[in-house]
Amino acid sequence: MKIKSICCIGAGYVGGPTMSIIAQKCPGIKVTVVDVNEKRIAAWNHPDVNNIPIYEPGLSEIVAEARGRNLFFSTEVDKAIDEAEMIFISVNTPTKTYGVGKGMAADLKYIELCARQIARVAKTDKIVVEKSTLPVRTASAIRDILDNTGNGVNFQILSNPEFLAEGTAVEDLLAPDRVLIGGDSTAEGQEAIAELVAIYANWVPRDKILTTNVWSSELSKLTANAFLAQRVSSINAMSELCEKTGADVNEVAKAIGLDSRIGSKFLKASVGFGGSCFQKDILNLVYIAKTYGLNEVADYWEQVIIMNDHQKRRFAKNIIKTLYNTVSGKKITFLGWAFKKDTNDTRESAAIYVADDLLAEQAEICVYDPKVEFEQIQTDLNYLETRSETLNGSGVQVKTDVYEACHNAHAIAVLTEWDEFKTYDWQKIYDNMLKPAFVFDGRNLLDKTTLEKIGFIYQAIGS
Ligand code: UDX
Ligand code: UDX
Ligand code: ADP
Repeated sequence: MKIKSICCIGAGYVGGPTMSIIAQKCPGIKVTVVDVNEKRIAAWNHPDVNNIPIYEPGLSEIVAEARGRNLFFSTEVDKAIDEAEMIFISVNTPTKTYGVGKGMAADLKYIELCARQIARVAKTDKIVVEKSTLPVRTASAIRDILDNTGNGVNFQILSNPEFLAEGTAVEDLLAPDRVLIGGDSTAEGQEAIAELVAIYANWVPRDKILTTNVWSSELSKLTANAFLAQRVSSINAMSELCEKTGADVNEVAKAIGLDSRIGSKFLKASVGFGGSCFQKDILNLVYIAKTYGLNEVADYWEQVIIMNDHQKRRFAKNIIKTLYNTVSGKKITFLGWAFKKDTNDTRESAAIYVADDLLAEQAEICVYDPKVEFEQIQTDLNYLETRSETLNGSGVQVKTDVYEACHNAHAIAVLTEWDEFKTYDWQKIYDNMLKPAFVFDGRNLLDKTTLEKIGFIYQAIGS
């Protein structure tokens, strides 16, 4: 069999870009992305491709090329399942907010609903691919549901974790470091693996497509994210020590990064990592380790999260301390709200937690982010349930002009490393701020010498 029809359940940050690239690279395969969220699907189908719901450099162009040709976005989940030979599950798997494993385990509710729906609808054999980040052994749970509630058709379950990073999703998908596919060792399992390999082989060199058993594949995804997050927490831990000792964390990062065993990437000290994956995946790992009684393993990885929380908190504390121990009634301008540059995603962004701490001290926050809107910022703050929605609403304003955002501010805090922040007229910003004018650079993005020459009091992370 050669796959001719694919369905992807979940039109989010993973499903949307991944399926767009598959459709672009495999014009002979019909790719249908479905979602229960009607607004999201309508946005994917918006006549102006610049209105698709996800901001990713280069993505609109790819959607423009493939949409309507062999790429479709729809809310008709049953129909798409029925038609497809291969079904990707790419729904969200947030951390549980209730019951056993609260705050740690992944909530598999959406995955289970998908599996039950596939079982109910499928009348022909299907290959089911788990694409969402999932705890190890989820594939076997999906299999249980499919085999026990299905219509007697055969299912093969593959694990195909996605390693794309937001902001560079298109690049990462077009030229991945590797593609990982886990499946059963049975003949049918190997056949299913070969079908998926054949799809990726349309643009990914064969030696970059790894095949493993399902559990290695599932665990590799969690491990990769845990290692990446651990590097950020490690350099952030050193940043605090640098501040005390007079060392400069950028110099330290450069010096260690030249050791080929360490490597230079992912060593940028920051206000703390965010994003939908790192924290969730590590918590997941911690939960699994605890489930097996591996307390030392659990504690080891939990420390990565503890360090990250500390980094966010100490950034806020330093702002308060530096502004003469009070920010009450003071305007503090945030440059950036997204969890990193080149994305409109704000999930777990450090900005949310820094804002929360400053609001607790009655600061007046003004946000400028090139891609994030007021409603999202309010949703993020309200989700914490620290204070009433009314107080969050009155404590934070959003401006679409950066100079207006900085006007009469006591301090500026850089929370996201958007390139455009480097290009501003900082003299003009300084002239319109209250004095002394402070800049707290949570991304070590701006040039210290230039800013100090203008008159700013400039503080970076780790120096
Ligand atoms: C180390 C540093 O590598 C070196 O740069 C520094 O100058 C001195 O400390 P060394 O202790 O001589 O060098 O050897 P190294 O190769 O780093 O191994 C240290 C230990 O780690 C060994 O016991 C080695 O077996 C172990 N190791 C290393 C592993 O268990 N797994 C690995 O992947 C690598
Ligand atoms: C991550 C993984 O990189 C990706 O492979 C996986 O598929 C999903 O999770 P993502 O969360 O989109 O991707 O972005 P990433 O570039 O990894 O950044 C995560 C967070 O770490 C961001 O908040 C970023 O600003 C921060 N970070 C990253 C640092 O603070 N310093 C660094 O050196 C690198
Ligand atoms: P990710 O970053 O993992 O892609 P998102 O939250 O961006 O996560 O996207 C997941 C999408 O999956 C959401 O748009 C959500 O509406 C969709 N979804 C969740 N459960 C189902 C379901 N049972 N059927 C269809 N779509 C679903």
